[in-house]
Amino acid sequence: MKKNERVVVIGGSSGMGFEIAKMALAKGAEVVIAGRSIQRLEAACVALGENGVEIAVVDIGQQSEVAALFKLVGQLDHLVVTAADLSYGPVTELKESDLMRAVRSKLLGPLFAAQESASRIRPGGSITFTSGIAARRPMRGGAAAAAINSGLEGLARSLAIELAPLRVNVVSPGWTDTPIWDGMTGMTEDRKHEVHSSMAARLPSGRIGRVEDIAEAVFFLMKNGFVTGTVLDVDGGHRLV
Ligand SMILES: NC(=O)c1ccc[n+]([C@@H]2O[C@H](COP(=O)([O-])OP(=O)(O)OC[C@H]3O[C@@H](n4cnc5c(N)ncnc54)[C@H](OP(=O)(O)O)[C@@H]3O)[C@@H](O)[C@H]2O)c1
Repeated sequence: MKKNERVVVIGGSSGMGFEIAKMALAKGAEVVIAGRSIQRLEAACVALGENGVEIAVVDIGQQSEVAALFKLVGQLDHLVVTAADLSYGPVTELKESDLMRAVRSKLLGPLFAAQESASRIRPGGSITFTSGIAARRPMRGGAAAAAINSGLEGLARSLAIELAPLRVNVVSPGWTDTPIWDGMTGMTEDRKHEVHSSMAARLPSGRIGRVEDIAEAVFFLMKNGFVTGTVLDVDGGHRLV
């Protein structure tokens, strides 16, 4: 990444997106972090040190809001999307409203963001989406995540052809310790520690992911000009076990 490049991170107020914003700032980029909650964005902005950071409220699942975001942003170099509002639970009990929110946030949202940003991304720039291990290693209660992550990877391959020479890639994280876990039903701190430790013991890596693992992979995808239409698994070997 070159100094003063402009990076937009939708989902940048938390977890992986926040770490990507932090690393981009450390590399001298101008960063826009976007998400739905102004409180989360403001808190993230303070934690990032405010210099070189802009915040923007957007629900990525609403096309008009995404259009307004990129009108405001203007030209940029790299778009990263980590936003997701997924629903988990037994497949027979998943509600249409929850499923539609999940599809909007993590499949249609990235499509809207690509539509609205493509003509504004400078030559040499990139788009990076975030899918996830659920696409490769389905588990009970994860049908929506599996379908949406798989769909997102297909979308990125298609965009890599249609928007070329703009590069479009996907990072597919394995289990990573971020605030996403705190929002899950019944996930107390003790329970989280228990499930993370038991997953760590199963993985070839011997640990679950850290946000830095994912952010570093995103920077590789951003800067390598010969990589497009690729899904980069950063999962500690989860797909093998
Ligand atoms: N953590 C893991 O173990 C794991 C594993 C595999 C894949 N992933 C994937 O990795 C990505 C990042 O996850 P994370 O763990 O970093 O999550 P996180 O800490 O919960 O952060 C999610 C971010 O997305 C924003 N967001 C959610 N819905 C949005 C919407 N509709 N419009 C705009 N922004 C929205 C959130 O802010 P607001 O709520 O304020 O909008 C927040 O900034 C997700 O796609 C997730 O599915 C995570």
